[in-house]
Amino acid sequence: MTEIYFKYGFELPAYRSVVARLRVCLGWFIVCSSATLAAEKVDFSRDISPILSDRCFACHGPDSEARKADLRFDVESDLLRAADSGFPIIKPSDADHSELFRRIMSADPDEMMPPPDFLVPVTDSEKALIKRWIEEGAEWSSHWAFKKIQSPNMPEIHGDAIIRNPIDRFVESKAQEKGLSSTMEASRRTPSQAGQP
Ligand code: HEC
Repeated sequence: MTEIYFKYGFELPAYRSVVARLRVCLGWFIVCSSATLAAEKVDFSRDISPILSDRCFACHGPDSEARKADLRFDVESDLLRAADSGFPIIKPSDADHSELFRRIMSADPDEMMPPPDFLVPVTDSEKALIKRWIEEGAEWSSHWAFKKIQSPNMPEIHGDAIIRNPIDRFVESKAQEKGLSSTMEASRRTPSQAGQP
């Protein structure tokens, strides 16, 4: 190994310290991004619906010809009905008694979902996300494109920031939430113009 690094002009200790620094950066990136994800509530249309449509819709989607077990995941009513096992397909706030969760966690080839011959299994992080969504109450929502347009509540802001339109208010409130404050408004004249008569 050592010879290879020398051959390409690397000093081994320097190479090691770069790798060590990269590892520390990567570690922090993973810690920070998972902390942000953990703090935020799981959202059905953003986080869960894409998993179900990728891994389950082939047999439990809008196509009635291909549908299995008379079960579809693109309408809310089916998610709350009882499964053949007697458990509800989803029991909000109780993943362990939800048939959907039981099936994606099962290692039994006769029970597991998607079935073993379906080539795209649910990954461990997706299973964890589905569990969190059920434990958080399993709120269902349709795709945003089908939702009624509603005006959001205007966020509160502190101090006297420059607000010219409602969008400024959203930007300012997010900035304040992150402890940032806006600076004075910049001059409309660029530095090069400012020097001109
Ligand atoms: C390749 C087709 C196929 C795919 C993909 C598939 N399933 Fe199924 N599913 C079936 C079949 C067939 C049955 C009925 C036999 C059984 O109960 O095992 C079934 C039954 C079920 C049941 C029980 C329904 C009841 O009324 O008892 C649940 C829950 C379920 N699937 C969840 C899922 C989930 C969640 C996914 C995606 C992660 C998925 N399935 C993907 C074929 C599929």
